[in-house]
Amino acid sequence: MSPSILNGIKKPHGDSFGTRAIHVGSDPSPETGAVIPAISLSTTYKQNGVGNHKGFEYSRSGNPNRNALEATLASLEAGGAYALGFASGSSTTATVLQSLGPNAHIVSVNDVYGGTFRYMSRVAKENQGLETTFVDLENADDETISAAFRPNTKLVWIESPTNPTLRLVDITRIVSLARAAPSSPLVLVDNTFLSPFYSSPLLQGADIVMHSLTKYVNGHSDVVMGALILPAGHEALVEKLRFLQNAIGAVPSAYDCWLAQRGAKTLHLRMKTHGTNALAVARALERSPYVEEVIYPGLASHPRNDLAYRSLSPHARKFVDQYMTRDDEGGFPYSGMISFRIRGGAEEANKFLTTTRLFTLAESLGGVESLAELPAQMTHGSIPPAERALLGIGDNLIRLSVGVEDEDDLVADVEQALAAAVGVGHKHYA
Ligand SMILES: Cc1ncc(COP(=O)(O)O)c(C=O)c1O
Repeated sequence: MSPSILNGIKKPHGDSFGTRAIHVGSDPSPETGAVIPAISLSTTYKQNGVGNHKGFEYSRSGNPNRNALEATLASLEAGGAYALGFASGSSTTATVLQSLGPNAHIVSVNDVYGGTFRYMSRVAKENQGLETTFVDLENADDETISAAFRPNTKLVWIESPTNPTLRLVDITRIVSLARAAPSSPLVLVDNTFLSPFYSSPLLQGADIVMHSLTKYVNGHSDVVMGALILPAGHEALVEKLRFLQNAIGAVPSAYDCWLAQRGAKTLHLRMKTHGTNALAVARALERSPYVEEVIYPGLASHPRNDLAYRSLSPHARKFVDQYMTRDDEGGFPYSGMISFRIRGGAEEANKFLTTTRLFTLAESLGGVESLAELPAQMTHGSIPPAERALLGIGDNLIRLSVGVEDEDDLVADVEQALAAAVGVGHKHYA
């Protein structure tokens, strides 16, 4: 196995998350001294003799910016040794599922991202005979989950929190059930919603972490990209995935890698502020007479708030513990996603979404700017109404991606939009 196939990363000893975010994969150029890596646009690389090159031959197979970003990601996702970059979160998903080969079976959390559901149940099912059992991995008991495993179960697919109802899956529990299953399936966690800052699934025993880097890791709503991160000990799987990364060719551009790496350098700063802002907005929603229910796992009132705390990454735990010594309202920052049910229905929801001044009505999440959307008609509109109802995605469920603007402005914006949407003409709620 040549060193160019694998990018095992030696982490600097003792450096904390923020230090690694800024330094790993970002060595000053030995040629020019440039502190920030240059963008390497070349598609091909000179060879001094046939097969005698400096580690790069053709940019689909590898380029300096992708290597640099992969080094950063392998370091940031605690427990990671290898990272692979892809052209989108969706092509990352496609590559993992293709690596399972024909006629495999997988177990997936039932409330999985819609595009992942579509790839499992339409593309992989039709083209490689993949069978998926969707299970409520949050609430199902051990027996039910174990009964879903078959002799050909190769993978368990977890997302936590789920989208948009923010259900939490106990990753450690699912890993131990998977290890006890006869086929010992791999466990993959889509860690997009929490980012490597709040959650470290590899430390909880997962085999693979995936990200839509489009969201928090890049963080500026200007790159579509995905990534996989794997721990040491999975070299054969890494080699297989890297083979597919090159053979399928769903690779990111050098420019996107450069942007995503720049974004990742401030991930720790942004995630702390996403979290404190989201907690403040969630508390304001909880206080409001115009809101039926608030779902934010960091709120003390969330039914799985203790699981959220227990499963924090070591670096997030440090931040959260410090935060809680200064704040005695209960609850803690836990990424930037909130869902809530506004009093009323589609009309009130639409009024709220068109009255906010700072929360822009748009799909996606994880950028520095605050966004708001109506899952039933936007991100989850393709799910049949009956299934949407079962998942709790009604016409009054609003999803917020809380950005890193100033906390007071965001709280004021939500309060004025609620008053305009529900307060006016509904004085009895006040
Ligand atoms: C949790 C999750 N996983 C995967 C994806 C797919 O990522 P991408 O849009 O980068 O293809 C998304 C996109 O919204 C997502 O929210």
